[in-house]
Amino acid sequence: MDSNRIDIRDAPKHVGEEVEIRGWNYNSRSSGKIAFLQLRDGTGRIQAVVVSGAVSGESWQAAKSLNTESSVIVRGVVKGEHRAPSGVELQTTAVEVVALAEEYPIGKKEHGVDFLMDYRHLWIRSARQEAILRIRDEISFGLREFMKQRGFVLTDSPIFTPSACEGTTDLFEVKYFDDKAYLSQSGQLYLEATSAALGKTYCFGPAFRSEKSKTRRHLTEFWMLEAEVAFMDWEENMQVQEDMTVHVLKRVLDNCQDELKALERDTAPLKTAAEGNFPRMHHAEAVRKLRELGSDIGDRDDLGADDETVLTRQFDRPVFIHHYPVEAKAFYMKPDPNEPDRALCADMLAPEGYGEVIGGSQRIDDLKLLEERIREKGLPVEAFEWFLDIRRYGSVPHSGFGIGLERTVAWICGIEHVRETIPFPRTIYRIKP
Ligand code: 4AD
Ligand code: MG
Repeated sequence: MDSNRIDIRDAPKHVGEEVEIRGWNYNSRSSGKIAFLQLRDGTGRIQAVVVSGAVSGESWQAAKSLNTESSVIVRGVVKGEHRAPSGVELQTTAVEVVALAEEYPIGKKEHGVDFLMDYRHLWIRSARQEAILRIRDEISFGLREFMKQRGFVLTDSPIFTPSACEGTTDLFEVKYFDDKAYLSQSGQLYLEATSAALGKTYCFGPAFRSEKSKTRRHLTEFWMLEAEVAFMDWEENMQVQEDMTVHVLKRVLDNCQDELKALERDTAPLKTAAEGNFPRMHHAEAVRKLRELGSDIGDRDDLGADDETVLTRQFDRPVFIHHYPVEAKAFYMKPDPNEPDRALCADMLAPEGYGEVIGGSQRIDDLKLLEERIREKGLPVEAFEWFLDIRRYGSVPHSGFGIGLERTVAWICGIEHVRETIPFPRTIYRIKP
C-alpha cells in the first residue's frame, strides 16, 4: 500500500483516481455494513466510506476497530460529494491500522480550558487549534517575507543578555555566568548595533517577561519580530509598520480562507484593515477621547489594557497612538525636540478591542542624553557601555519597532486569549506540557 499517496488537501484534484491517505481517524461511526471514518492528516479532513463486502474482511475489521485518533492508512477512490466541506469523499478499497489509540482523553463534551491546556499536546490536533497554528505560520512567514522584500537583513539577537531593555521589573534572571544574566526581553539593543552595520535589520525570536500579569494579552514567553533602521525617523517607522501589517493581512486573506472559516472569523474587519490608511492620534488626543468615553486615565498615563479596548472600538482599522509622555515609556525613546516631555514613539493598536500589537519609536541618538536616561532609570551604566558605543562612533537618527506575534495572531484569528495562539503557551500559571 503506498502508490499514489496524496495529502488530503489535494484530494479534489484526484477525483476518480484511487489514492492512499496516511493519517488519523479523528472520529468514526459504523452501523451494520457501513462505516464512516473521519480522517485528518494535518493538511485537511476527509470522510472515508467503508462498505463491508467492498473491502477485504481484514480491512472491514480494521475499519471497525479504529477508535478516536488511531493512526491509519486508507486507500480509496476519490468521489465528488457536494455535502462534504471539501466537495469530496473517499470510497474506501482498503484500510490498514498503523496503531490503535488508547481511549482519547479529549471527548466530544465541553472541556474547561485548563483541562485542554493540560492536554495541549493533543488539543493541537483539533480543527480549531490546527487552523490557528496554520494562520500563525502564515503570519510569521508573511512578516519575514515583507522584511526580505524591503531589504532588511535578519540578524538574530542573543537570548542571554546582561541588561534590561524594557525595564527592570520583569526580567528572568539566569544563574550560570559570573556576571548577572537574564533572558532577553527584547532584541532591540542588539538590532541598534546591527542596523549601524547593515542599515536595515530585524530579528525574530522569543522574548521573556516575568511580569505577574494574568491578562489575556500576556505570555511569559512570546515571539516578537523587531526591526531597526538607520536614518529612519519615527513617522517613516509608522509607515513601515502599516505596510507590513497590510502585507500580512493580505497574505492571510489570500491563503487562509478555510482556516478563517473554521474559526468563524468575520473577515470584513480584516479586509478593511488591509486597505491601509491607519489613523494616527496624539496621546493627548487619545486621553481626551478616552475621558469622553468614561475612562479616568490621567494626562500623563500610559494607556491601560481597558483604555486600549475602548479606544480601538472607535476605529475600523489599526490606529497609531504617538507622543506618549516620556516617563510612561522605555529609557531609549527620543524626546520630541518640540515637545520634550513626550517621546517620538507610537504604539499600533489593533481594532475590535484587541489593543497594542506593536510598540516602536525613534531612539535617542545623543550620547549624553542616553547616559542620563540610563542613570535616571536606575540601570547599571557599565552593562550599557557597548550600547553607548553606537552613539560614540557615528551616531545617526534611527528608529525601530517590535510586533508581538501572538497578539497579532489573536487579532487576525479573532480569538479571545493569546494562550491559544502559540503551540505551547507559557504563562504565570503554566510551564507544562
Ligand atoms: O512594547 P514592547 O515591550 O516593545 C519592545 O520590546 C521594544 N523593544 C520593541 C522595539 O522597539 N524593538 O513589546 C512589543 C510588542 C508589544 O506591542 C506586544 O505585541 C508584544 O511585543 N508583547 C507581548 N506579547 C505577549 N505577551 C507579553 N508579555 C508581551 N509583551 C510585549
Ligand atoms: Mg509596549
